Amino acid sequence: MDIVVSGIRSTGNLHLGNYFGMIRNAVKMQSENKCFFFIADYHALTTHPNPDTLHVNIKQVLAEYLACGIDPDVSTLFIQSDVPQVSELYLLLNMNAYIGELERTASFKEKVRRHPDNVNAGLLTYPVLMAADIIIHKANKVPVGKDQEQHLEMTRKFARRFNQLYKTEYFPEPDAYNFGSDLIKIPGLDGSGKMGKSEGNGIFLIDDPSVIKKKVMSAVTDTGPTALNQEPSEPVKNLFSIMEVLSEPSTIEYFREKHAACEIRYGDMKKQLAEDIIRFTTPIRERINEILSDSLSLRKIVGEGAEKARESASRTISEVRKIIGYRPF
Ligand code: TRP
Repeated sequence: MDIVVSGIRSTGNLHLGNYFGMIRNAVKMQSENKCFFFIADYHALTTHPNPDTLHVNIKQVLAEYLACGIDPDVSTLFIQSDVPQVSELYLLLNMNAYIGELERTASFKEKVRRHPDNVNAGLLTYPVLMAADIIIHKANKVPVGKDQEQHLEMTRKFARRFNQLYKTEYFPEPDAYNFGSDLIKIPGLDGSGKMGKSEGNGIFLIDDPSVIKKKVMSAVTDTGPTALNQEPSEPVKNLFSIMEVLSEPSTIEYFREKHAACEIRYGDMKKQLAEDIIRFTTPIRERINEILSDSLSLRKIVGEGAEKARESASRTISEVRKIIGYRPF
């Protein structure tokens, strides 16, 4: 049984890429591990969110995760800012995180490039806060996508450095949770690349059927295959990739054969794909809205989650303080 920590950005709604890339696996993982799932709303402050909407976004993401199957009776589901112990560990870890290594982080360089007007210290120390999130529960596994691998590498480094500095083996060095072949990348419908928030090409779980239909119908394709058994082009492959995860095998086969025979009509394929996506997202969307309408239950869930998380976090903090040398005199 592993201790697993997974942080969720509180900005933006969940899309199919999130679902098939991570959440579906996280849901499966809960029963076999001790899982902590949290909404990273301290991290969200690096981009200065509007105070009037911050809590709305947190609530929304929370409802979406619950609707996908995160079970608060099995896992610990909480909001990062409800566990201030993490900010204390962050402060302590900052004392042995070095400016040079933080400046070299890919995500930081990317942020500097994209937002040169907001290069704040929180952004620089983002990986330190993430390390604190993880090691405060002494996690040994972290489910991460490719874009978070470097952050996890730094988490290991900070844990190792703490252990070496204080001649202890207190913090485990967490590994990436490997979903192996289960890890599916969902492409965007704009021709190439993955589906992502920053790519602006997401099909969201909360999208209305009419919105989904519109997005799918405007997906990029090509002018049609020109030879029998021709390999589909990149954008058409993308349509097939999404079909692979949520359409009936017979549907996929039908369109593959049509493509191979140069008889495919992309309009028909998109119509079918839109229908299949809608069939898949509709029960989730209905659950999200149901959960959102019950603020009382939501508050109870995160209240209890925070309590469990604080219990685990304060145990670590008091041990860490002792290790560092904060002892009664
Ligand atoms: N940085 C992660 C992301 O952008 C979110 C995150 C914050 C996280 N703290 C974490 C993920 C701890 C895993 C573990 O997606």
